[in-house]
Amino acid sequence: MDINVEELIRQALEMRKMSYTPYSHFNVGAALLAANGTIYTGCNIENASLTPTNCAERTAFFKAVSEGVRDFEAIAIAGGPDNATELDYCPPCGVCRQVMSEFCRDDFKIIMAKSVTEYKIVTLSENLPDRFGPKDLLG
Ligand code: THU
Repeated sequence: MDINVEELIRQALEMRKMSYTPYSHFNVGAALLAANGTIYTGCNIENASLTPTNCAERTAFFKAVSEGVRDFEAIAIAGGPDNATELDYCPPCGVCRQVMSEFCRDDFKIIMAKSVTEYKIVTLSENLPDRFGPKDLLG
């Protein structure tokens, strides 16, 4: 399917504003494109107990899966300190890569964005080679 990369990045940047990050002050927004064309957005949500923190990517995935959607094409990620004037690329953490691995094919696209016009795209298999996934348990 055609992926509107700029629109995904725009929504990820917009979601950054919703991040709840009183501890790290590192704000991340994500926009996940489902195969049905719907975009699910997410932000990171921190917790005083620290480990319950949920990353932006997983927020987006869990919103989608909780609505019965399990087929995905791409995710845009934009992250950086809350006072940053320019963003660096924000790669997904290992836990989020593993969640992607549960639902996404090798060619799922991970779009890391500094801005709507400056981004790089890698596939899930590049980001998480030799991944452990459902096929390892279910055959
Ligand atoms: N974080 C994300 O939301 N996504 C990533 O890909 C990297 C890290 C969040 C978790 C935590 O709230 C903050 O960024 C600092 O690690």
